[in-house]
Amino acid sequence: MFRTEGSEHVRGSMLSLTIEAIIDFAGERRGHFRLIECEVSSHDAYGTPRDLFIAFFGVIANELRDILGDDWSDEIDAAWHKLLRDIDAVVAQQKHLAAETP
Ligand code: HEM
Repeated sequence: MFRTEGSEHVRGSMLSLTIEAIIDFAGERRGHFRLIECEVSSHDAYGTPRDLFIAFFGVIANELRDILGDDWSDEIDAAWHKLLRDIDAVVAQQKHLAAETP
C-alpha cells in the first residue's frame, strides 16, 4: 500500500513527518500545518483505509517500546495510550469527503 515507484524516499519522508507530527501533537499542538488532519484526507484519496492510517502510529509506538526495553516505564506507556486515543479521536472527527460529494 505504500506504492513501489520512488517509494524509499516517500516512506522515509512519511515516517519522519509522522514522528514530527506525533511530537507536535503530544506537546504544544502548534498545528502550523495540521499534518495529521490534512493527511487523513489525502490518504482517503490514496485509498489508504483509515484504520490502517491510524495503525501506523501504533506500529511506531510498538517499535519504540521494543527499542527502549526496560526503560519503557508505566508513565511512558500511559502517555502513548493517551496519545493514540487522542489521534483516534482527531481522525474520527474528519469527515469523509467522498461521502459528502453529491
Ligand atoms: C499504513 C499507513 C499509511 C499508508 C499505507 C500510506 C500510504 C501513502 C501513499 C500511497 C502515499 C502517496 C505516495 C506517492 O505519492 O506515491 C503517501 C504519502 C504521504 N504520506 Fe502516507 N501512508 C500511511 C500513513 C501515513 C501517516 C500516519 C502520515 C502522517 C500523519 C503520512 C504522511 C504522508 C505524507 C506527508 C505523504 C506525502 C504526500 C502527501 O502530502 O500526501 N502517511 N502515503
